[in-house]
Amino acid sequence: MEKFVINGGNALKGEVRISGAKNAAVAILPAVLLSDEPCVIENLPNISDVTTLLKAMQCLGAQIKTINKTTVEIDPRHVNSFVVSKKMAEGMRASSYFLGALLGRLKRARVSPPGGCDFGVRPIDQHIKGFEALGARMTIENGMVDAKAQQLSGCSIYLDVVSVGATINIMLAAVKANGLTVIENAAREPHIVDLANFLNSMGANIMGAGTGVIKIRGVKHLSGTTYSIIPDQIEAGTYMAAAVAARGDILVTNVTPKHLESIIAKLIEIGAKVTEYDEAVRVQMTRRPKKCNIKTMPHPGFPTDMQPQIATVLSLADGTSIVTEGVWDSRFRYVEQLTLMGADIQVDGKTAVITGVKSLNSAPVRAVDLRAGAAMIIAGLAANGTTEIEEIDHIDRGYENVVEKFSALGADIKRVPVFDTAPMLKQA
Ligand code: EPU
Repeated sequence: MEKFVINGGNALKGEVRISGAKNAAVAILPAVLLSDEPCVIENLPNISDVTTLLKAMQCLGAQIKTINKTTVEIDPRHVNSFVVSKKMAEGMRASSYFLGALLGRLKRARVSPPGGCDFGVRPIDQHIKGFEALGARMTIENGMVDAKAQQLSGCSIYLDVVSVGATINIMLAAVKANGLTVIENAAREPHIVDLANFLNSMGANIMGAGTGVIKIRGVKHLSGTTYSIIPDQIEAGTYMAAAVAARGDILVTNVTPKHLESIIAKLIEIGAKVTEYDEAVRVQMTRRPKKCNIKTMPHPGFPTDMQPQIATVLSLADGTSIVTEGVWDSRFRYVEQLTLMGADIQVDGKTAVITGVKSLNSAPVRAVDLRAGAAMIIAGLAANGTTEIEEIDHIDRGYENVVEKFSALGADIKRVPVFDTAPMLKQA
């Protein structure tokens, strides 16, 4: 086990290069299973969620060749298993995408129920509804989600909630189905568009990705392709928020500024100077953040995956801010950790009232989930003294080389081993 140790107080200065998007990568990798030929995937982030998915794909029979640090070649021609066990999925949310991908390829899938960050209830009823509408028989057997189909036929599906996962899973199952599938009230996130672009580059016929109505005309074959994953908007937003909380002047490169619009708008409201370039943004912050109200919403709204990071910035603001979570039932578990560092935050259901304090103080804290962990790093960078963050495996799921990247910006952050003292205590 490891933890992060951060000596706060250094302003951030310099350049940081953003990696490929986690939530695009975890959809595109299972999508490779639909191809009849090998595919080369570039700009893959080096994060543990990607490693877990690649291992699971190997267990299913895919052959994987590492070309370089960010590129793999995947040959799915010998995939012969349709079972993704609990051990293979390792509690990942994205394991659910194997349901759509394997159904699309083999008309059969048995997948351990998806895990992922704990935000209260995380149902997959809309995924199941979509698969059933396409003609699959869905059951739960021995704790596994089981899907079977004689054939998959295009249909019209209206999603009761805007769901990233259900939109992706239905696209995966429908891309080789007979006829036309229409997903209404579809999610519009950049990673949905990236998945559609990837599938289309293999010969799929998907229109409307990025709007609320996606039309998928099924094709018989998908061929090999070489595809580069989009930059991670949330990783970019996290470094931008860190530069606002800890102050400084950073250039965030390898980004698509259009994907960052809602984040940039709020950082400007908070008092930062943000300059957009073709594939980079510069963030400058010289003063205390201003208060600001934020409500998270599906894209193009303010992303829920930036909520803990921005709330941490606002915990240092001059005045009281209101942050409303509009996507998940419960995404404020990190607040308890932040209050250990002196933040003044009252949570009532889906709303947090944040009364800004002048400074945060160091404390031992935990990364209760992925983005909560990112928020703890931001708090530690801005705080006085030495902050220790435990349970950082959550952070490693989604942030590539986080210590190296923050260190290059002048932060004092280290990854150190945690020694389990329990056995010694028992002996004594
Ligand atoms: N929902 C349902 N039924 C469903 C599916 C979703 O009611 O069948 C509800 C959820 O309970 C939630 C809302 O719909 O209230 C949105 O859930 P969605 O399905 O969009 O979330 P997801 O696909 O499980 C992805 C990201 C999350 C991100 C959300 C929202 C991946 C692997 N995960 O989750 O990312 O928060 O979309 O944008 O793409 C993260 O990266 O830190 C992360 C948690």
